[in-house]
Amino acid sequence: MKPVIYVTRKIPEELLQPYREYADFRMWERETEPVPRDVLLKEAAAADGVLCLLTEQIDRAFFRAAGNLKVVANMAVGFDNIDIEAAEEHGVVVTNTPDVLTETTADLTFGLLMTTARRIVEAADYIRDGQWEHWSPYLLAGADVHGKKIGIVGMGRIGEAVARRATGFQMPILYHNRSRKETVEQELGAKYLELDELLQEADFVVSLVPLTNETARLFNKEAFRKMKKSAVFINASRGATVDEDALYDALINNRIRAAGLDVFEKEPITPNHPLVQLDNTVCLPHIGSASEETRTKMIRLCLDNLATVLRGETPITPVHK
Ligand code: DGY
Repeated sequence: MKPVIYVTRKIPEELLQPYREYADFRMWERETEPVPRDVLLKEAAAADGVLCLLTEQIDRAFFRAAGNLKVVANMAVGFDNIDIEAAEEHGVVVTNTPDVLTETTADLTFGLLMTTARRIVEAADYIRDGQWEHWSPYLLAGADVHGKKIGIVGMGRIGEAVARRATGFQMPILYHNRSRKETVEQELGAKYLELDELLQEADFVVSLVPLTNETARLFNKEAFRKMKKSAVFINASRGATVDEDALYDALINNRIRAAGLDVFEKEPITPNHPLVQLDNTVCLPHIGSASEETRTKMIRLCLDNLATVLRGETPITPVHK
């Protein structure tokens, strides 16, 4: 009997086709809507493998319900939606999608930094709203990017890729990470700083830390107070690394200049979200890795991981606690 794989969102048939020989697929047939929890648990109960997204909470109750499960392939590099300890206790392998999304996510992060600094969304809306009547010296004037200090918090693969982009803009690179990265120090001239020092020195503070117990609300009231008044804050990791009330407070009181956010504590957010209301904030719907090429690579990597584990081989990109 072929193993059963449950896919929690509609993905293109041509991507599944090569794998149909070895597995039977079941799928939540909607593209933009997450699978309801009760359906997920029911389907997981009969599955050997699950391909899930970050919209699913793969928690202890899920693993209890999924008696046959051998592998969960998460279509994201971040896996804070998965209880890894519970997975290990149930003997389920968990995989993620590192590397294939690094450059694409770095492109978006740097693009968001530039968009926020140079007020590009606000400027485009200015024309759309019929407000442009004259050229004026300080009309929609933003902050320079080139030559400014970038402070990267979380120097993982994506952090390094952002740092490489920053060198093209002659930006001195500051970073904070759990461990020192000698290669980025040597190759890119990056300077390691304690977090407090980085917050005080950087013109752009870029959060690329994974969400863990240690990083939850790392960017809180005290952190925003330490930043320069001219600082621009960028978050492309996970929303819960930020205390959103504290960020709102810092932005509305001009304690920092602006923020570019691709992620939020509770996603999706609506137009009524306080941060969306601010002129000095650019909000995006968690599109860091969203290029057609990269999303396809992420799906393929999930399918390959599922195939290897279900064939009894070593997964390509397993995650560990
Ligand atoms: C990830 O991979 O963790 C992103 O947030 C989604 O692409």
